[in-house]
Amino acid sequence: MNTIDRYAVFGQPINHSKSPRIHSLFAEQTGQSMQYVAQEVSSAAFDTTVKRFFDENGKGLNCTVPLKELAWQYADSLTERARQAKAVNTLSRQADGSILGDNTDGIGLVNDLTLNHPLNLAGKRILILGAGGASRGIIAPLLALLPDQITIANRTISKAEAMILEFADLGCLQSTDYAKLTGQSFDLIINATSASLSGELPPLPPNLLATAGSCYDLAYANQPTAFVRWGHAQNALHSLDGLGMLVEQAAQAFFVWRGILPHTAPIIALLDSERKAN
Ligand code: ATR
Repeated sequence: MNTIDRYAVFGQPINHSKSPRIHSLFAEQTGQSMQYVAQEVSSAAFDTTVKRFFDENGKGLNCTVPLKELAWQYADSLTERARQAKAVNTLSRQADGSILGDNTDGIGLVNDLTLNHPLNLAGKRILILGAGGASRGIIAPLLALLPDQITIANRTISKAEAMILEFADLGCLQSTDYAKLTGQSFDLIINATSASLSGELPPLPPNLLATAGSCYDLAYANQPTAFVRWGHAQNALHSLDGLGMLVEQAAQAFFVWRGILPHTAPIIALLDSERKAN
C-alpha cells in the first residue's frame, strides 16, 4: 500500500499550474516526504472527486479557479479568514475525518507586499480594481494593515457597493466606478480583475498612482501583464505580478498541512529566474 502523504491541486484549467513544483521544492527544502499533483477537475465533478480523494486517504487539497467557492461550500468547518473570504483554497483532513476549509490567498498577498518588498501600508491609500472573488479574499487582510482607506473600483458599481457593505465593520472602505477615479491618487493599486487574463486593462485615468506608489497584479504570467506594464509606465516604485503571492499562499498552505513554514525567498527567486529565461 502507498503510504506517502498525498496532496493535490484541483482546478480547470490546471495544466500550467506551478503548485506541484512549488510544493516539491518546499518538501525538498524542509525534508518532508509527500506527494503533490495537479488534477483537472470541473465544477460538476468537484464534490465526488474531493470525496474520493479524502476517502482514499488524501491529506490536503488546494482548490483554484473556478472551484474556490465550491470548496467553501464543501468544507465541514471554516477558519475565520475563509469565512470572511467566502472562498477556500486549502482543504485539510482533520484527525476526526472532517474537512477544514482555509483561505491563504490574503495572507499570501500581504506577506509578499510587506515582507518581500517590503511596503509599509499603514496610513496609505489603497485602490483595488475589481469586485469579484479575488477582491473578496484580500480586503480583510489588507484592512488589518491599517491603511488610511481602501477604495474598490468596478465596472459594475453595484458589486463594489455590495462588497464594501459586507466589510464595513473592519475599516474605512469606499466604492467607485472607473470614471470617478479621475483626480484621485493612491499609494498602492491592486489589480484584482480578470482583465489581465485576456490582456486587457481597466480604463485608468492619468496620475492615478501617487509619487513612489506601487502596483500589484494578482495575476501572473511569464511575460509582464498589461497592468504590470501600465505600472512601469506610471513610474511605479514596484510594479509586481502575483508570482510572489502564489508562492506565499502555497507556503501558508504547506504550514497548515505540515506544521513547517518553508523559506519562500529562494523559491520565488528560482521561479522568477526560470520564467525570465523562457
Ligand atoms: P471571480 O469572482 O472569479 O474573480 P468575477 O466575479 O467574474 O470572477 O470577477 C472578475 C472581476 O474582473 C469583476 O470585478 C469584473 O468586473 P465586473 O464585475 O464589472 O464584470 C472585472 N473585469 C473583468 N474584465 C474586465 C475588464 N476588461 N475591465 C474591467 N474589469 C474587468
